[in-house]
Amino acid sequence: MNELQPDLRESVREERFGTVWVNDLDQVFANVAPYYDVANYVASMGLWGWFRRRFMRTIELHPNEKGLDVCAGTNAIAIALLKREPTLKMHAIDRSAEMQAVGQKNAHALGFHIESTIGDVHTLPFPDKYFDIITLQFASRHLRVKEVFSEIHRVLKPGGRFYHCDMLRPTNRIVAPIFYAYLRFTLWLTALVFRSGYSALHCKQYFVHALQMFYSVEELSDVLKTLGYQDVSAKSAMFGTMGFHRAVKPPQE
Ligand SMILES: C[S@@+](CC[C@H](N)C(=O)[O-])C[C@H]1O[C@@H](n2cnc3c(N)ncnc32)[C@H](O)[C@@H]1O
Repeated sequence: MNELQPDLRESVREERFGTVWVNDLDQVFANVAPYYDVANYVASMGLWGWFRRRFMRTIELHPNEKGLDVCAGTNAIAIALLKREPTLKMHAIDRSAEMQAVGQKNAHALGFHIESTIGDVHTLPFPDKYFDIITLQFASRHLRVKEVFSEIHRVLKPGGRFYHCDMLRPTNRIVAPIFYAYLRFTLWLTALVFRSGYSALHCKQYFVHALQMFYSVEELSDVLKTLGYQDVSAKSAMFGTMGFHRAVKPPQE
C-alpha cells in the first residue's frame, strides 16, 4: 500500500479517510484540546519541543510581516514565531473551536495577539496575495493536501514563503515497521495516561494508517513543485519520518 503511484496517493487517501476527516476528527480534537500540549510531549517521548525548535530554525522572518498558521491548533507555532519576531501580524485558522480556545488563552497569557478564524482550511477565507509567510505543522495527513497547498499558494504574496513540518512516510523498509510500532506504542501510552475518550480511542488505528498512506519527504517536495512553488527545499530527520519543507511563491505571480 506504500508503493502507490504518487499521483494516485491523494485520491486513495481521500477515498480511505474522507469520512474520518469529516465525521470524527473534530470530536477527537475537541476532546484532546485541554491536554493536547502536554500529550504531545508524552506521545513524542519528550521530543515535541525539539521538533518545534528544529522547524523554527528553517523559518526566515522579517519585521511587520503578515503571517498565517494553518491548522493552528493551540497556536504553538504562531506563539513561537511571535516570540522571535513580536512585530508580526499573526493569524491562525483551525476548524476546532476548542483547540483555538486553548490557543487564544496561551497567546493572551504571553501578551500576544493572534487573529483567530474557525473554519475548514480547504477554503481559506482570505484574499489573494495576502500573507508574507504561512506555516503548517502536524496536520497535513488529515487534509486533501493538494487542495490546501493550492489555497496557501493563492493567499501568499508573490515571493511569500510556505513552511511545512510533519511526520512523513518513511521509505526505508527497516525503518518503516519500527516507526509504526513506535507510533502504536505512543498512541497507546497517551490514551492510557490521559484516559482518552471514545473518539480518540476509535481513531488510534486511523492515526497510524493515515501515515502509512501519506507522502514521503521527496513526494511532498514534488507536490509543492507541481503546484507552482519554486525554490522547494526539504530537510528530513529521524530516518525520513520527519520532514521540514520550505517553498516560495514565484515573485512574478
Ligand atoms: C495534530 S493538530 C496540530 C496543531 C498544530 N498545528 C500543532 O502543530 O500543534 C491538527 C489540527 O488540525 C486541525 N484540522 C484538521 N483538519 C482540519 C481542517 N480540514 N480544517 C481546519 N483545521 C483542521 C485540527 O482541528 C487540529 O487542531
